[in-house]
Amino acid sequence: MDIVEKNIEEILVDHAYCEQKAASTAISFIIGYPEKTELVQAMIDLVAEEMSHFKMVHYLLIERGFALGRERKDEYVNRLMQFFPKGGSREDHLVHKLLYAALIEARSCERFRLLSEKLEDKQLARFYKKLMISEANHYTMFFTVCAYLRRTRKNRSKMESSTRL
Ligand SMILES: [Fe+2]
Ligand SMILES: [Fe+2]
Repeated sequence: MDIVEKNIEEILVDHAYCEQKAASTAISFIIGYPEKTELVQAMIDLVAEEMSHFKMVHYLLIERGFALGRERKDEYVNRLMQFFPKGGSREDHLVHKLLYAALIEARSCERFRLLSEKLEDKQLARFYKKLMISEANHYTMFFTVCAYLRRTRKNRSKMESSTRL
């Protein structure tokens, strides 16, 4: 895969920013929903893991004689944002944001799978295979948190309606 090999700098820079954005998203969940203890705990772990990924990618850039470079626009991310409806309750927003985050993680997982299969650089191919597994864990974690919050929300509204009787 010549194209992949030729654009290794671009791939690594884009990738580094994906990791940084994943960490920033996790922090914004903590700031936006501090009362959701399970969510906050999951996001604390995620921030640490995504920043460790960022560090690894940054190191790979340095090793190859590149610098981080500027962030480029990600059309997929912008379009995905527009897909979710505006308005709704704070809880609805949270569900949308969690699903959005899950989709971004799933895309990273798919991207890393392709890179792990196509890259001729064996060190990088192994690296991407490892990260593919991490990103798969992340997107399933977002779905699990989403399902958990939905369940607790349902239980809460059941309790509220039974105390009204
Ligand atoms: Fe990551
Ligand atoms: Fe991730």
